Amino acid sequence: MRRVITYGTFDLLHYGHINLLKKAKEQGDYLIVGLSSDEFNDIKGKKSYFSFNERKMLLEAIRYVDLVILEDNWEQKVSDVSKYDVDCFVIGDDWKGEFDYLKDFCDVIYLERTPEISTTKIKSELNSQV
Ligand code: CTP
Repeated sequence: MRRVITYGTFDLLHYGHINLLKKAKEQGDYLIVGLSSDEFNDIKGKKSYFSFNERKMLLEAIRYVDLVILEDNWEQKVSDVSKYDVDCFVIGDDWKGEFDYLKDFCDVIYLERTPEISTTKIKSELNSQV
């Protein structure tokens, strides 16, 4: 069984996220999502609309997702790869090159982002309509 892992905040789940998760699952048989905790979002300067538990519940309802784990620091990826016996790390190509250091431990694939959609865009467009 080929195990795949990806990470993100996945706030206000949108079709760009679904495309990413579908393509991630196609890289193997079992997909793990490392979901940013609310505290880790604070560190990254992000404030999510939905709480960690709400974002987790949404992800767990997606057919491509097998397991959601907590991401709460930048360093945990190497230990997650070993702990969960991961074969392949994937993430959108807005992160291209950033995680090449994981190539010592597993495959690293940057997937093309879906154009013209992001959580930031949804938030700012809804704000400007008010
Ligand atoms: N992603 C994607 N295509 C999009 C938006 C996101 O493929 N249009 C991918 C990202 O590259 C990442 C994952 O979805 O691998 C989770 O991204 P996240 O940062 O949570 O979503 P964004 O919509 O990019 O959120 P923000 O605007 O807050 O950065």
